[in-house]
Amino acid sequence: MTVAALPISPHPAVDGGLQLEVTNVSPQTDSIVSITLADPSGRKLPSYVPGSHLVVQYGGEGVNAYSLTGSGNDPSEYTISVLRVEEGAGGSMAMHRLTAGDHVYVSRPRSAFAPASTATHHLLVAAGIGITPVLSHARAAADHGTTSSLIYVYRPGAGAHVDEARELLGPALTECSNRDSFQTVLTEQLTAQGVGTHLYVCGPIPFMDAVLDHARELGWPSARLHSEAFGAAELDEGEPFMVNLVRSGLRLEVPAGVSLLDTLEKAGKSVPNMCRKGICGECVLPVLRGVPQHRDLYLTDQEKAENTTMMCCVSRSEDPELELDL
Ligand code: FES
Repeated sequence: MTVAALPISPHPAVDGGLQLEVTNVSPQTDSIVSITLADPSGRKLPSYVPGSHLVVQYGGEGVNAYSLTGSGNDPSEYTISVLRVEEGAGGSMAMHRLTAGDHVYVSRPRSAFAPASTATHHLLVAAGIGITPVLSHARAAADHGTTSSLIYVYRPGAGAHVDEARELLGPALTECSNRDSFQTVLTEQLTAQGVGTHLYVCGPIPFMDAVLDHARELGWPSARLHSEAFGAAELDEGEPFMVNLVRSGLRLEVPAGVSLLDTLEKAGKSVPNMCRKGICGECVLPVLRGVPQHRDLYLTDQEKAENTTMMCCVSRSEDPELELDL
């Protein structure tokens, strides 16, 4: 067995984190692999809030964020699952090449998709690889004696962690493999929930938008809705929008498929940045007016709800125009 060399130095996004050893690699589907990481000397790992993610440095310099699938309570290992994205930047392919005995740098777990402490029930909705953070929520809810239910949408043969979810949730798991059955189940469950239920959605952006819009139409308040976008590799190109840079007196168009960070750099504005994937926090910008479409994994739910800052490498705008303190 060949053990891949640890990168020479940790990327700033994982600096101050941990150096862990791959202890197990197991395929979930043809394109999803689960990777278990542990401290090489067997020490316990830092606990984490359910729904947290790790930033992992793969290969040489690249970093990516992956959701942890455990409950987060007193872990001796971390498990993440990685979808292979053939046309991506290469991160998922490098992760799929990891084997037991390899060492990687990882950040400390970071929470951006935490369960609501006041929830009396957690309704979890996931598509594809989006099951990973909601599995963490379901495990933590079971540990804490709170109920949860999961609607999991996946193409036949392409579901990840299905056996674990069946064992964990029993009849509280609904599996859907077509759009019509999903819509029926979603409507039923959104309609039947009590006021203490919180909804958590993870999957592709159009899927999440559709679920959240449906919940709002049925009267769910925003405070009970939670969602987590995937990393930048899986983000769609988004809608065009305008930015008004108040201090510079500049007004710029951000076209579809071009990031706000790229647009600012093209206009001669220098913005500190490191990962360009919404995970390191370097490219934060103050927002004066307008509602950003937060697509990063750095800001907390609370910070996202305040809408006073945004990560310009991945986030866009819900409004036609944003006003920035730049
Ligand atoms: S550059 Fe890392 S979050 Fe934007």
